[in-house]
Amino acid sequence: MSGPILIFDSGIGGLSILDEIRTLIPDKDCCYLFDNARLPYGELAESPLIIGCVSLICEHAKRINAAIVVVACNSASTLVLPILRKRLSIPIVGVVPAIKPAAKISIQRHIGLLATPGTIKRPYTKELIEAFAEDCQVELFGSSELVMLAEAKLAGIAIDMAKLTLLLTPIRESALDTLVLGCTHFPILAAEIRQVLGNHITLLDSGKAVADRVAYLLGDNTAVISDDKRCVNYSAVYTTDDIAVGLRERLVEEGFTKIEPHSSTHLS
Ligand code: DGL
Repeated sequence: MSGPILIFDSGIGGLSILDEIRTLIPDKDCCYLFDNARLPYGELAESPLIIGCVSLICEHAKRINAAIVVVACNSASTLVLPILRKRLSIPIVGVVPAIKPAAKISIQRHIGLLATPGTIKRPYTKELIEAFAEDCQVELFGSSELVMLAEAKLAGIAIDMAKLTLLLTPIRESALDTLVLGCTHFPILAAEIRQVLGNHITLLDSGKAVADRVAYLLGDNTAVISDDKRCVNYSAVYTTDDIAVGLRERLVEEGFTKIEPHSSTHLS
């Protein structure tokens, strides 16, 4: 498999997955594709979300001859994986909320899922909870505002801690002991979330599990981890005609050598 890894999200959330992937597979080319024109996905109706994602990912995967696609977005993964697997002949890896590991470690048998409004209402999520956390009380918290806070953070804007504290109030008032970060944007806010919630709540996300799966499918020797995490070729493609200056600077700092708009006109 010689082509790059194609990592997809609505916005910068997939960078939390990319970070885990390049820790494990530092010498593999990566292309990060994000649909910032339609962010946040958690507010999008299912049909436009599916049609847009499938068309964008398929077109780009073919264009760059991707070796593998990582749908680094819970909101999209809960809907598009079966269709993508029918359309593309390369491996497709999705991300789903870490309900199973959370149910394994929760001492109080009381867990929370913090995700987008889209993810928490999907049948996929309900089935995940029924299959792996049946004996737990599971509370669902949906927020797109947190998604936008994570976007702002990576664009260099200081996090409004008062706003974050307000958004997390229902979780602070709950007796849960384990919180699943079921949106790839949220690990980017992990330090701030921990600051607000305190250390008695364990935070879990799926980034490492996704990276392990990618490494396994690519057949890489994951025992060799280079100090230089930068990929050989590391590019970003976005779907609107511009991104925030702060975010562009951040992407350059992260090692992206090429940052350019997606040229297709298929999205409205
Ligand atoms: N990062 C995405 C997720 O994991 C989507 C966030 C959004 O666009 O609402 O669900």
